[in-house]
Amino acid sequence: MSVRYSRIVGVGAHLPERVMPNREFEAKLDTDDEWIESRTGIRERRIAADGELASDLALPAARAAIGGAGIDAEDIGLIVLATTTPDMIYPSTACLLQHKLGLRNECAAFDVQAVCSGFVYALSVADAMIRAGRADCALVVGAEVYSHILDWEDRSTCVLFGDGAGAVVLQASDRPGVISTRLHADGSLSGKLSVPGHVGHGKVTGRPYTVMDGGAIYKRAVKAMAEASEEVCAEGGVQPGDVDWFIPHQANRRIMTAVAERLGVGPDRMVSTVELHGNTSAASIPLALASAWDRMSEGQLLLLATVGGGLSWGSALARI
Ligand code: ACO
Repeated sequence: MSVRYSRIVGVGAHLPERVMPNREFEAKLDTDDEWIESRTGIRERRIAADGELASDLALPAARAAIGGAGIDAEDIGLIVLATTTPDMIYPSTACLLQHKLGLRNECAAFDVQAVCSGFVYALSVADAMIRAGRADCALVVGAEVYSHILDWEDRSTCVLFGDGAGAVVLQASDRPGVISTRLHADGSLSGKLSVPGHVGHGKVTGRPYTVMDGGAIYKRAVKAMAEASEEVCAEGGVQPGDVDWFIPHQANRRIMTAVAERLGVGPDRMVSTVELHGNTSAASIPLALASAWDRMSEGQLLLLATVGGGLSWGSALARI
């Protein structure tokens, strides 16, 4: 193989059973279905059961991706798992997933923490490792129990998020695959979206729930996702408006639509699951990808774009 690329060859998704429609918030908070749907596009989200952790959601998503790729699980040479809500402080959720998958091949496994940008960060790292010859096959996962870091009395944040997991199998290939990825961060904006609590000396210091300046994130999100999308498209020699599928981070339908309009991507080509999933952070893009996978065909061009806490953002252009 002269030039080595990575290709997405399988996708999988898993959602917790419990559906939480907007109306459930009405009894407890000063909010309503109309406000939530009109401001965000969200109608419902899934919420993990008590004791259900990120690795529990990741496992069926990973198995589905491995099955879809038609590979033996032992062929996986690398696991990169993006999460903001790991099962434990350590070991990594990727290591826990490796064990749950029953892998005995001692492949590298680690987590990536870039909040809602995590999946694109993880994909970019796995792609680079495959191109560099460090692995032939990688499992890339986004898994979140975001409900664990929400203050359920704060209407400005708790209505926005949900739980779930998505996964892809990336395989070495002599034809592109992942064409380009771009990752960015601006730590000066870390206070705009964070869970500031710190665990140490046996206690949590500071607030262990999501705090967010929604307006500031909104404005920055559109610019960041659009610019990162333009970067990968320029490197790939395509116009953003020419991609077959645009799969943005599912934060808020108004943000997604504004980015798509700025890029010249028609609404029929934007994958949207925010109505049913809410914002599932690192899981949102692989969940959206999995929801549309059966409608996608070989050779089509995918554009992924994301933004999240950090502030972090990024994009990926890939041919399937
Ligand atoms: N129900 C009713 N009212 C609410 C609710 C609610 N659930 N939440 C906030 N409000 C109120 C606020 O208190 C405020 O009231 P005030 O004007 O009296 O102070 C008012 O609604 C704000 O209204 P708008 O300005 O119209 O709200 P906006 O259109 O900005 O929408 C939203 C708010 C949805 C949070 C939007 O700013 C947004 O989506 N921002 C981006 C958030 C985001 O994507 N975060 C995740 C990033 S990814 C990651 O890394 C986790």
